[in-house]
Amino acid sequence: MIPCRPLAVAVFCLALTAATSLTQCTGEAGPAAGAAAALQPAGDPIRLLVSGSLLGRLEPCGCASGQLGGLARRMQHIGERRSYDLLLEGGNLVDGDTELDVLKFYTCVQVLTGMQHPYDVLGVGPKDLSLPLDEWSAFLAGAQVVAADLASEREDWPARPWLEKDVRGQIVRVTSLTLSLPPALQGEAAPVRLLPPLAAWQRAMDGAAATTLRILLLHGDEATARALVPTLRPAPDLVVGVDQDHVEPTPRSERLGDSLLVFAGIRGRVLLEVSLTRTAEGPRAACELVPLAGSKTLPGGGGDPDVKAVLLAHREQVKQEKVLERMARRLPAPNGAAYVGTETCRACHPQAYDAWSQSRHAKAWETLEIAEADPKRYGWPVTHYPDCVGCHVVGHREATGFVSFADTPQLAGVGCERCHGPGSDHLLNPAGNRLGLLGGVAASVLCVQCHDFEQSPDFVYAEKWQAIRHGREPHQQPPK
Ligand code: HEC
Ligand code: HEC
Ligand code: HEC
Ligand code: HEC
Repeated sequence: MIPCRPLAVAVFCLALTAATSLTQCTGEAGPAAGAAAALQPAGDPIRLLVSGSLLGRLEPCGCASGQLGGLARRMQHIGERRSYDLLLEGGNLVDGDTELDVLKFYTCVQVLTGMQHPYDVLGVGPKDLSLPLDEWSAFLAGAQVVAADLASEREDWPARPWLEKDVRGQIVRVTSLTLSLPPALQGEAAPVRLLPPLAAWQRAMDGAAATTLRILLLHGDEATARALVPTLRPAPDLVVGVDQDHVEPTPRSERLGDSLLVFAGIRGRVLLEVSLTRTAEGPRAACELVPLAGSKTLPGGGGDPDVKAVLLAHREQVKQEKVLERMARRLPAPNGAAYVGTETCRACHPQAYDAWSQSRHAKAWETLEIAEADPKRYGWPVTHYPDCVGCHVVGHREATGFVSFADTPQLAGVGCERCHGPGSDHLLNPAGNRLGLLGGVAASVLCVQCHDFEQSPDFVYAEKWQAIRHGREPHQQPPK
């Protein structure tokens, strides 16, 4: 289980006791007081490191060179910088609700709260709540979790409405608004309820001194953030938007009403440093982007070795517990037919088969095996890790699809049916059961399901199609 860590009681007040004794401070000084005098008592900025929407990217996949991110590099950066006053993680640590996501979530919490540089605040995203609630709560027991607009009667409910920290005399209060619940938690009988955001925010700021810096981790899309933020009272000094569509963090803050808004970016590739103060004119923030690139001089690209050890243990556990096999074949086959394997297509599509077998798609499984055996590149069981396998085979997770190399070698690699769908009906009656492209999507859309901005940063469909180009056999021209 998670190594126990004493709560940082010295610096945190628990949410239950409102810190009213601090309200003696001066409040907002008017602009007439002059710039210097208008600063808060503890005038130097507080230094925050913010992130959100990790979406399960514990480490970059390594499919392309120069990928950013990873928890090992993140924690190394924090250790080297050593000067952050607050480490804030918005939430949506994972992207799904599978067995793998449960183990990933556990691993993230372990790294972010149980090691050398524990995070000060974790927000809660709707995706985190799609995990089984028992496991989610158990992993977070004792962690610094905030959620202003979530309520639950559960005894093990880990989130508090807010957390406070005293940074060199400046009190900072942080909370999060989740704004939506996953489908499984919607409805009257659900064990978690969503509170109206304005009231939830107000309750979370209740009893805070006027001089307290107010920080909000806000889930939901950009339009929602823009509409909501100016209506919040008291105004937050800083709102950190945790929005999946905001791929990169914002390089500068934007003023919205009396608040500043930044977006955290996704997948933990680029962290955002914010130096925050409140002046007579309102909050001020200086932002700096921290791209987590690999080291060119340290062996293995650098990264905190203790975190790396935790990640390795995670991957070993995924293999030991046969998570790949357990996740297989849980979803319906996409067109109702069964996968038959690329060799079956060869007899009637010899030219397409030749083109495919000369393409990298035919080698995609072998590539994983080579990667697994090479300690310089990976050296961990990638052929048992569902994320890697999913993009390098046919139909993992779908009925009749890939289970493991031992069970379903005919579906290893990016075979015909990954793009055209299960073929059992088609081969019995080709003209009657046509295949087309899986999901009926445009070809370019199909490709970027795997060739996304991280795996293939310079993917241009028209060019890449030339490298795998194939089609009907000369005698199979469709009727005019
Ligand atoms: C299921 C995931 C997946 C889909 C969908 C997919 N690819 Fe790939 N593709 C891969 C993998 C994995 C590799 C690398 C295989 C290797 O090198 O072992 C690859 C490699 C390639 C390469 C060779 C490397 C390069 O970038 O030059 C080309 C070209 C390519 N794909 C084109 C396409 C095109 C065009 C589409 C859409 C019609 C497509 N792929 C759809 C997974 C996919
Ligand atoms: C979202 C789909 C996706 C996931 C997830 C994924 N891959 Fe890939 N992988 C690709 C694609 C696409 C390529 C081809 C990239 C290119 O050349 O454009 C590729 C290429 C590779 C290559 C060849 C790169 C090279 O430089 O030779 C390796 C090795 C590889 N992947 C390993 C992995 C491992 C290990 C994992 C899990 C940690 C993984 N992949 C996860 C899609 C994926
Ligand atoms: C990476 C994805 C991918 C893989 C793998 C793949 N194809 Fe395709 N295939 C396509 C795309 C994209 C097209 C072009 C479709 C279009 O332009 O509408 C296509 C076209 C075709 C066509 C002509 C379709 C038509 O309507 O004219 C045939 C036949 C075909 N593929 C068979 C195969 C066979 C057989 C294999 C395996 C040996 C295979 N494909 C592997 C993506 C793929
Ligand atoms: C028994 C022979 C046979 C087998 C086996 C076969 N096909 Fe076909 N396929 C055909 C014929 C014939 C056509 C042309 C049908 C027409 O246009 O009347 C065709 C057409 C296609 C097309 C073009 C779109 C369409 O459906 O017309 C795709 C894509 C395709 N096949 C993919 C596959 C894949 C993938 C496999 C392996 C799972 C496969 N085929 C196995 C005979 C076969």
